[in-house]
Amino acid sequence: MLVEKNVPLQHCNTFGIAARAHALVRVHSEDDVRALLADPLWGRRPPLVLGGGSNIVLTGDVEPVVLKMEIKGMRLVGETPAAWIVEAGAGERWHDLVAWTLQQGLPGLENMALIPGTVGAAPVQNIGAYGVELQDRFDSLDAIDLATGQGFSLDAAQCAFSYRDSVFKHVPAEPVGQRLDQALPRGMGLAGRAVITRVRLALPKAWKPDMGYLDIERKRAESGVDQPTAQQIFDWVCEIRRAKLPDPEVLGNAGSFFKNPTVTAEQCADIIAREPRIVHYPLADGSIKLAAGWLIDACGWKGKTMGKAGVYERQALVLVNRGDKHSADASVTGGEVMTLARAIQTSVYERFGIRLEPEPVVV
Ligand code: EPU
Repeated sequence: MLVEKNVPLQHCNTFGIAARAHALVRVHSEDDVRALLADPLWGRRPPLVLGGGSNIVLTGDVEPVVLKMEIKGMRLVGETPAAWIVEAGAGERWHDLVAWTLQQGLPGLENMALIPGTVGAAPVQNIGAYGVELQDRFDSLDAIDLATGQGFSLDAAQCAFSYRDSVFKHVPAEPVGQRLDQALPRGMGLAGRAVITRVRLALPKAWKPDMGYLDIERKRAESGVDQPTAQQIFDWVCEIRRAKLPDPEVLGNAGSFFKNPTVTAEQCADIIAREPRIVHYPLADGSIKLAAGWLIDACGWKGKTMGKAGVYERQALVLVNRGDKHSADASVTGGEVMTLARAIQTSVYERFGIRLEPEPVVV
């Protein structure tokens, strides 16, 4: 196990924020995690797990040791009557997995093409796009308990997925002595308590295109294709994302900065009475999801800049780095991003009475 010291993290987070890790270990296998946990110097404090750094805001140097997840490998590992089971290492890029499954003739992930980040990070916030979420294709995952070094597996129910949420985002309620390699206690959070090493996905044998999202339906209508292939949907999703979302290689960002908030039907009726144009989607449970991008846009934030943090011109839900993401001195700071985020939260609250919740992890 090699512990690197005083490591710049600017190229390890898609915002391009210049912060340093006091110590960093590149994890290529489960044994690398166990070696770190067994080390008397580094194993005492919970590490910070870093995947592609596409959903994180670094507000300063990182004191805990950083585990940079680089476990690789993608393979077909099994089948059920309804699905092919594919397994990928936590350190694979999510988009590479989507492309690889299509090359293998195993469709099902195409709506989630081009989402930045790694496979290991995907279950943490239950990534999703264009009508499909990770939980719709999830089989199981392997993880290591950071308190004991024991490996364990979780199925979808144990991951407790919901919109941009899972057991990995919640702080443990149980004492550290609780064993995770046995049944996971109900309602237990795993934030800071476990690291995901491998993820298995269930790809439907009877594949059907998922066309429920307006942007995709528009592409279908434009192309005149009635029954698109998975590759066509993959291409359309890539085109839609490239047109709407900034490429983090060029303009630093962490994707959607806020979650789309959910309100009751009564609250929504009240807001619609004042703002008839508000973009909203009814959910199965009777509640209503509002488009956070629309709310922020309506408050006049699109294209605005505060310090070196800005609101993207083409999608108000995305905060961007207006500094130089390749320069340690001229890049945006985590503090500037959070100051802008708080100003947006305040103005959306003052106008609509709705509290926006950030999507990325703030460290
Ligand atoms: N809108 C505006 N102004 C804006 C932005 C959006 O009026 O500046 C309106 C749009 O016109 C549209 C609605 O808001 O009617 C929703 O916008 P969009 O379809 O772009 O999707 P979103 O709700 O902003 C979500 C996800 C994205 C995902 C897309 C497509 C969240 C927080 N974000 O964005 O995920 O790609 O849907 O499924 O749920 C991410 O999580 O990082 C991410 C990019």
